[in-house]
Amino acid sequence: MSSPRPTTTNAGIPVASDDHSLTAGPNGPVLLQDHYMIEKNAQFNRERVPERVVHAKGGGAFGFFETTEDVSQYTKAALFQPGVKTETLIRFSSVAGELGSPDTWRDPRGTAIKFYTSEGNYDLVGNNTPVFFIRDAIKFPDFIRSQKRRADNHLRDHDMQWDFWTQCPESAHQVTWLMGDRGIPKTWRNMNLYGSHTYMWENAKGEKFWVKYHFKTDQGHDFLTQEEADRLAGEDGDAHIRDLWSSIKSGNNPSWTLYVQVMPLEDAAEYRFNPFDLTKVWPHGDYPLIKVGRFVLDRNPDNYFAQIEQSAFEPSNLVPGIGTSPDKMLQGRLFSYPDAHRYRIGPNYMDLPVNRPTSQVNSYSKDGPMRYSYGQDPVYAPNSYGGAHADTRNGSEDSAHGIEQEVVRAAYQQHAEDDDFGQAGAMVREVFSDEERQRFVNNVAGHLSKGVSQPILERALQYWRNVDKDTGDKIAEKVQN
Ligand code: NDP
Ligand code: HEM
Repeated sequence: MSSPRPTTTNAGIPVASDDHSLTAGPNGPVLLQDHYMIEKNAQFNRERVPERVVHAKGGGAFGFFETTEDVSQYTKAALFQPGVKTETLIRFSSVAGELGSPDTWRDPRGTAIKFYTSEGNYDLVGNNTPVFFIRDAIKFPDFIRSQKRRADNHLRDHDMQWDFWTQCPESAHQVTWLMGDRGIPKTWRNMNLYGSHTYMWENAKGEKFWVKYHFKTDQGHDFLTQEEADRLAGEDGDAHIRDLWSSIKSGNNPSWTLYVQVMPLEDAAEYRFNPFDLTKVWPHGDYPLIKVGRFVLDRNPDNYFAQIEQSAFEPSNLVPGIGTSPDKMLQGRLFSYPDAHRYRIGPNYMDLPVNRPTSQVNSYSKDGPMRYSYGQDPVYAPNSYGGAHADTRNGSEDSAHGIEQEVVRAAYQQHAEDDDFGQAGAMVREVFSDEERQRFVNNVAGHLSKGVSQPILERALQYWRNVDKDTGDKIAEKVQN
């Protein structure tokens, strides 16, 4: 058997004891010259970075994405060319709970994917739902605060959740989804992943399209009932992290099939729904799913903190062939994420191995705290010494949507069938089975029965009657009895 490795200080110097401080006699005070004891404790005090302000609890894994079909008529993005295989990282998360919160609370799940492509990192920071609670980023901090904790007693509070939701009826579609079976997936493997927003794709000829991403689980959908989830929250708060880890460890590698919906650019103006409104889906009957490829997770992290906690995803990381859209939520997110990373991890977060692109980086960014990589001279542009130079042929996806118009603070322009309740109603009536509709009524009524006061309760019952009269009446009956 090989002899154990000697413990050292962070500077690599062998140390005398893992157990005892340096003291003046066995009962005497600890000496200031025990710099190793001080290093250990000082380092310990600095072990945490701030948790993510949302999506704090999560887990993740590495894998690959393989483009199995030819979608080059829609995008020139290198990773979506036929046969290309790209290394990936995914981080799954819940939204409202803190770092140690149970995995099985009812909540959307974050599905942040990093593709280490040959043309830089592409981050698709989505959820396990195709829609969201609001349609304008200006409401995001208020929405999240209503889901987190009160100022006075630090408790989560259904009253404030429903107060917000009922005054923002655009939330109805996402709340319907949340209260259905898919609101608590059995495992992260048993759910779909969605890009949710509308993005732009551009092909090699410069033709542009609107797209939505759908990663369908190959494991099949499965869910936990409220009772099962409540029990697991006590028995194994880390059930979802454990499931993903053990499944990959045993060689049972989960996978998803990527499909996209593609809308010709010119359809957007006259489409029956606003195609950029994040509270709406594009019905499959209008824009069918087109297969793209296969996403597989096959490698657990070696170190949770370095590779998962310090991973940094940002919707603004878009590679050539992929661009933004006039979705007001997406526009807000383009600012938020890099800003959050600079605060949470530090300005050189891109230097950490998990965040660093595998393609060449020729940026002029330089120095700053904890800088690891370094460039060479020249350190400025333009220069006469052969430094990198930008090319105006890049960035053709950065169309400025609608900026010729008057500056306003206004709701989206209405499309023919835009409303807050229609697609939520379709889900309740046409997508849910009878059994699921019954569980949905129980879930909503159970949620509303925990501390929701008048007049918010009355507003909530009306909200559900607006989604579907019959279902709303059943919820009311259950709440009032
Ligand atoms: P479709 O019948 O073509 O699609 C229905 C979709 O609902 C399927 O994608 C299915 O996903 C999904 N679904 C099934 N059960 C549930 C559930 N319990 N919770 C959430 N989603 C579920 O109809 P349309 O495209 O016309 O959409 C009808 C309604 O379906 C929409 O108003 C929307 O509420 C919902 N929906 C639509 C999606 C879309 O992108 N069009 C995506 C997801 C939901 P799967 O194939 O994985 O079973
Ligand atoms: C995390 C902001 C909407 C998915 C975060 C973080 C911020 C943020 C600040 C923490 C980032 C970090 O510290 O690393 C916002 C804002 C939104 C918004 C301002 C609305 C305007 C959305 C939507 C989705 C989403 C619509 C999904 C479609 C995620 C995911 C994470 C996250 C998956 C976790 C990323 C990870 O695993 O590191 N968001 N968000 N967010 N958000 Fe959003």
